[in-house]
Amino acid sequence: MSEKKSSTSTTRSNFTGKLGFVLAAAGSAVGLGNLWRFPYCAAKYGGGMFLFLYVILALTFGFSLMVAEIAIGRKTKLSAIGAFDKLKAEYYFIGVLASLVPIIITPYYSVIGGWVMKFLWMYITNPVEQIAMTNEQGLTVFEEFISSPVEPLIWFLLFLGITIFIIAIGVEKGIERSSKILMPALVLLVAVVAIYSCTLPGAIDGIKYYMMPNINDLSVKTVLSAMTQLFYSLSLAMGIMITYGSYMKKDINIETSVWQIEIFDTIIAFLAGLAIIPAVFACGSPENLKAGPSLMFIILPQVFTRMRAGRFIAILFFFLVFFAALTSSISLYETCISIIQDKFKQKRTPSIVFSLLICIIIGLLSSLGYGPLSMITFLGMQFLDLFDFISNSVLMPIVAFFTCIFVGYIIKPKTIIHEVESSGNEFKLKSLFTVVIKYIAPILIVIILIASILQAFGKISM
Ligand code: TRP
Repeated sequence: MSEKKSSTSTTRSNFTGKLGFVLAAAGSAVGLGNLWRFPYCAAKYGGGMFLFLYVILALTFGFSLMVAEIAIGRKTKLSAIGAFDKLKAEYYFIGVLASLVPIIITPYYSVIGGWVMKFLWMYITNPVEQIAMTNEQGLTVFEEFISSPVEPLIWFLLFLGITIFIIAIGVEKGIERSSKILMPALVLLVAVVAIYSCTLPGAIDGIKYYMMPNINDLSVKTVLSAMTQLFYSLSLAMGIMITYGSYMKKDINIETSVWQIEIFDTIIAFLAGLAIIPAVFACGSPENLKAGPSLMFIILPQVFTRMRAGRFIAILFFFLVFFAALTSSISLYETCISIIQDKFKQKRTPSIVFSLLICIIIGLLSSLGYGPLSMITFLGMQFLDLFDFISNSVLMPIVAFFTCIFVGYIIKPKTIIHEVESSGNEFKLKSLFTVVIKYIAPILIVIILIASILQAFGKISM
């Protein structure tokens, strides 16, 4: 979305056409969250059980929260900070907390974007086998890259530079237009890689691990990680969907739009998991299931070396991932700019520069945290994991909790239901929506948050 108006302006442009809204929201939703984060979380937190919980949460919790956020945006025609303020001034703070999330995510998103660019570049300039090799100390190409002090920084700055360049010269619209072709191409290509991975010898154990929930994998960590991944992937609990809603026309059906976004987003995440997790087993390295953020970069090179035309597929694949990351990063960066513009009443250029400063500081730490600063950890986490933890496991659940309380008890579900039905259609799942927003979601979040805080400080083990 590239509307550059401040959220306080009275005339807001709308998304054109019925599909316009869904495409723009899906463009923000589909990104590294689906391709990079979902597979490593699923691998790390119990495979089938994670997938199962994710889908259940998406159908209930994700659905209700997204409907609520879009409806709040469309009703108030404001972005997060202004929207809560307008509906009930005391709840202004929810908007402020929500706005912190993109400010933390944007910088480390560019770090990962840089890793993707590095891989794209390596596949362009090197034969596939070389990228799948390990060095004398047994380090993979990725591990060697990430632990070097300067190179990841350069790629990070390059990715950030491209994002800002596109924003500064104002060609986001063109980028968005090409995403209409490149996004479907991405889905197709992820499906091709997924099919290939699943047919590798030994992949069957991985398919079982990924698709069959095992009750022993049910833990607080699994529920928390499925929930936070859901927020991250659908861009929820950070004010984004409120902003998108504020640009949505009155005659568009919110409920159907939300289903379309959710289904599209979940299919891509599911396929990305299928492309990566079975291959972990096929490569005979189940210890990699715990690899975390590096998983995709360690496993995919193994898959591409085994594939016919692997180099060509790899170049195409990393190009499309780069593109998906870039569109999300532009939209994240735009969000930060508009938050700073609205909150501090700044002009656009100083806001761009200020966002850039924050991005460079947090991004540098995230990038160096895997290399020269790797001895610095907090609660056992390196910088990038720490920022991810603060935004996703702490701030987003808190924002989601207060949003539920706000909708459930302050403005009441009927306000949202009324907004959804104002386009002339019935809100079919309004009972589910009401129960989830008033009871299920807030109770679940409180339990999960308390348990995970206790766990982080080693008070309980689950
Ligand atoms: N949902 C995006 C993804 O899956 C990441 C993201 C989170 C995002 N918040 C956002 C993208 C805000 C654009 C705007 O990668």
